[in-house]
Amino acid sequence: MSVQVLNHPLINVLMTNLRSQETSSSEFRLTAKKISSLMAYEIFKDLKIEKKRIDTPLESFLGVTVQDPKPCIISILRAGLIISEGITDVFDKVSIGHIGMYRDEKTLNPVNYLIKLPSNLENRQCFLCDPMLATGGSAMSSLETLKKNKASDITLVCLLASDEGIRNVKEKFSDVKIICAQKDSKLNEKGFIVPGLGDAGDRIFDT
Ligand code: PRP
Repeated sequence: MSVQVLNHPLINVLMTNLRSQETSSSEFRLTAKKISSLMAYEIFKDLKIEKKRIDTPLESFLGVTVQDPKPCIISILRAGLIISEGITDVFDKVSIGHIGMYRDEKTLNPVNYLIKLPSNLENRQCFLCDPMLATGGSAMSSLETLKKNKASDITLVCLLASDEGIRNVKEKFSDVKIICAQKDSKLNEKGFIVPGLGDAGDRIFDT
C-alpha cells in the first residue's frame, strides 16, 4: 500500500491556518476546500484517460478525455463533503457517493446512518474522502462498505492523518492507497489527533 504525505509548502501554509484556533468557521471551510482543490493535482495523477480527437480553431488535435465509467468521489459525512467540494471545483467529471457516519464519542466506534453509492464501482477509480484519519475506525468501516460494493481501486484522501490511523488502515486494507496533506504522530485519550486541528466537522459547519 502506498502512503503519500504531500507536505507541500503551499499546502503547509494553508494547513497552518486550518489548525489555528483563531481561524473562524467560514475561513476554515474556505481553506479546507482550497487545500482539497490543490490536492486534486496529486489525487488524479493516475487518472484513467483515453485519446480524444478534437478540432482547434486551426487544426485537428489528438487530446485526451476521462475514461468511462467516470471516477467516483465518496464523502464520509459530514466532514468529507468539503473535500468533495474542493475536488469538484477543479475537476467535475466524477460521480459522487456518500457514506453517512459519525463516531460515537464514548466508544469511538463508527455508526453508519446512510449509504448512497454510484453503480459499477468495480470499474471505477474510487476516492474516499474524510478530512481526518484518527483511529481509522470511520475510514475502515467505509472501506468495508466500498469493498462490499465491489470497489477495488480505492484511494483514501485526508487532510490530516495520524500514524495510528494509517497503520490500522494499512494492516486491514493493504491494497488501499492513502494521500494526505499532513500527518501527526499522536492521538489523545479521546481519540483526537494532536496537535491536530480540532473536530473538522464542527469547525466546517460551525456546530
Ligand atoms: C470525525 C472525522 C472522521 C472521524 C475520524 O468525524 O471527520 O470521520 O471523526 O475519526 P476516526 O479515524 O477515529 O474514525 P465525526 O465523528 O466528528 O463526524 P462528522 O464528520 O459528522 O463531524
